[in-house]
Amino acid sequence: MLSEKIQNAINRQINAELYSSYLYVAMAMYFESVDMSGAAKWMNSQAQEELVHADKFMKYVNERDGRVILDAIEKPAVEWKSVQNTFEAALEHERKVSSLINDLVTLAREESDHMTDNFLQWYVAEQVEEEASVGEVVRKLKLIGDSGGGRFMIDNELGQRIFNPAANSGE
Ligand code: FEO
Repeated sequence: MLSEKIQNAINRQINAELYSSYLYVAMAMYFESVDMSGAAKWMNSQAQEELVHADKFMKYVNERDGRVILDAIEKPAVEWKSVQNTFEAALEHERKVSSLINDLVTLAREESDHMTDNFLQWYVAEQVEEEASVGEVVRKLKLIGDSGGGRFMIDNELGQRIFNPAANSGE
């Protein structure tokens, strides 16, 4: 059984994961509006990955006889200044999510909830990957700068990303 404190904290995290998905769909739609369909595909895959993160939390709460309570999802931004600026915003967002996961681990330890602490370690490792993959795109975009050819190539490369639910859930 989950303590109320842990249950509430995980419910807030479920909301944060669902918001992440919503934000990345909004970013994908921005990319579509500037004819970057490869980047849009990349961001849509990212959005699906966030749904897996939320789902994994929901399954855990149910397994521990807790109750998932869904809250309103905040409205995401609509426009960004550029493709690079969008990926920079995504990186900043991932860093924020990493700090939320860290706070959850701290809370689980304060509450001596070893099961939750152990469960959260998957997210700790996942955040390393999340920050690294978005960071890599930011670095490439910075190298490309204003080059139209470079932009075409990176859009093509980003469009190769295929979402694989099994590989992303750790199950
Ligand atoms: Fe669910 Fe991208 O962190």
